[in-house]
Amino acid sequence: MHPLLLTVIGRLGADDFVSGEAIAHELGISRASVSGLVRRAGNFGVRVLSVPGRGYRLAQPFEPLDESRLKPVLAPVGLHVQCLPQVDSTNTRLAALAAAGAPHGTLLAAEWQTQGRGRRGRDWRGILGASLTFSLLWRFERPVSALAGLSLAVGVALVRAMRALGATGVGLKWPNDVLVGETKLAGILIELTGDMLGPAAAVIGIGINVRGGEALSERVGLPVADLEAACGRRLQRNAVLIEVARQMAEVLRLFEREGFAAFRDEWASLHLWQGQPVAVHAPDGRVILGRAAGVDAQGALLLDSGAGLMPILTGDVSLRRTR
Ligand code: BTN
Repeated sequence: MHPLLLTVIGRLGADDFVSGEAIAHELGISRASVSGLVRRAGNFGVRVLSVPGRGYRLAQPFEPLDESRLKPVLAPVGLHVQCLPQVDSTNTRLAALAAAGAPHGTLLAAEWQTQGRGRRGRDWRGILGASLTFSLLWRFERPVSALAGLSLAVGVALVRAMRALGATGVGLKWPNDVLVGETKLAGILIELTGDMLGPAAAVIGIGINVRGGEALSERVGLPVADLEAACGRRLQRNAVLIEVARQMAEVLRLFEREGFAAFRDEWASLHLWQGQPVAVHAPDGRVILGRAAGVDAQGALLLDSGAGLMPILTGDVSLRRTR
């Protein structure tokens, strides 16, 4: 991303047109550079309306991540917030900071990721100013082996936050996708480090589509949901980040004390496919059919295959249509 792109977008509003000349003058660059930057905004999913003689206006308002607003609210709950314009992946960057000794509770948010990562080696993409991408570092006294179900508990935190913001129809799909109906609204990527006996560190990466679901669907070629549509109102990204981060901190503290067992019933109540016929696509290519029957205390999906409950530890689950 060009270093001035965020400045130019930040200078534009969604209500009034601003002339290219005024921006060029303010930033000490040429009008041609301003028009080049405005054209580039489209590569990041930002739509800028341009009217000859009037200038430029954003199709949607742009609200940058604002450390000065986030820090005073999140510091009292033990989170150390840092916002960057661009990183490869907030998970990758935070893992490096963690290895260099970053404190427990470090939260790294970025306006843009050049190599955002999803689960199972997939990409994670967003729209500049319309998505939230951040990672939280949580250090545990317990070893990695004692953190089963962590990603499911984080899913509970996300749904709690979204409901608190007014979302309806939001739930979970095992292991930790946040969906509206069958459409993905947010994803969680947890990366753990630590040895079998010693303390562990989790880098908990969260990607949320706050608005612009339709535009994002076009970019990724898949149906995508967004939080504003689920809430039926305009949201501020900083406010969403605050609510999600607070709920995560609360859930992680309880998880530290009681593990996933403390969230098992709530998780099942939020499971959108509970009791539904599903197909589990195992990493070895096998497809196992059954009904989703909740999760065990370790967060494994319990699949009712007709011959008893089978715990599924890893795999992709899809809904099976029955006629
Ligand atoms: C998924 O596949 O559902 C998980 C998506 C996780 C995306 C987030 S965005 C912030 C953090 N940084 C990354 O590179 N990935 C996670």
